[in-house]
Amino acid sequence: MTDPANPVIARTAAELRAAVAGWRRAGDRIGLVPTMGALHQGHLELAAALRKAGAARVLFSIFVNPAQFGPKEDFSRYPRREAEDLAKLASIGADLAYLPTVDEIYPEGFAFSIVPSGPIVADLEAAVRPGHFAGVATVVAKLLIQAAPDLAAFGEKDYQQLLLVRRLVRDLDLPCEILGVPTVRDRDGLALSSRNAYLGEAQLAVARRLNRIMAEIAADPALLAAGPDRLRDAGFDAVDYLVLRDAETLAEPAPGRPRRLIAAVRLGATRLLDNMAVP
Ligand code: PAF
Repeated sequence: MTDPANPVIARTAAELRAAVAGWRRAGDRIGLVPTMGALHQGHLELAAALRKAGAARVLFSIFVNPAQFGPKEDFSRYPRREAEDLAKLASIGADLAYLPTVDEIYPEGFAFSIVPSGPIVADLEAAVRPGHFAGVATVVAKLLIQAAPDLAAFGEKDYQQLLLVRRLVRDLDLPCEILGVPTVRDRDGLALSSRNAYLGEAQLAVARRLNRIMAEIAADPALLAAGPDRLRDAGFDAVDYLVLRDAETLAEPAPGRPRRLIAAVRLGATRLLDNMAVP
């Protein structure tokens, strides 16, 4: 039975495995939501999607993964809110919170890394953040090996990451179904993100224009070429990319194939990502 007031807290892989083993013996399907914490409604929707897909037990990992941040990125200032996160997990009846230390994930002398290659990591985030996806792939593989979930949920907001994780489990034969969950937005359409916490009121007003401009381009891709200028005019400091791609391979779009409009922009020191299907 889930106790809504009390997710089990595991700080080591051994504690995590012990809890999961008991549930598995009881025949429960296990779902995992890997996160870096500073939880918002988007994360909580991932848990709801897992339950809908048949997970009887929902685990969250909360780990700000140093390996996926570049030397000049926001690792040290990334929001860490353990008490608030645990309260949110209690409120949705999550079964377990896995809160490993850096040493638990990367013990002294850690010597392996999973380095993705191929078209999915040919550009976009991989070009702007060298080494980022090796850090993501390595930690996600470790979390999937440690928790051995039947299902794991990832948000569509980090679209390239979602495709990467699907490829990771396929290529490494990890027996876990990956669920991609639609982006949760605020009432003005801004994609929820832990990094939105960096934005002041004026920046939030600009940030909310990203989704609107993208929605117009998605409705009429002829507007794509002028998109970066429109975004800069709207107040964004830089446009890292704004591209229309094949939704499954990230290759250039081809007739008859599903398409995705994908963007990364900068507002001050904050990067914002968004994407949407193009009919
Ligand atoms: O999307 C995230 O929060 C992270 O990249 C993930 C998947 C938890 C890996 O650290």
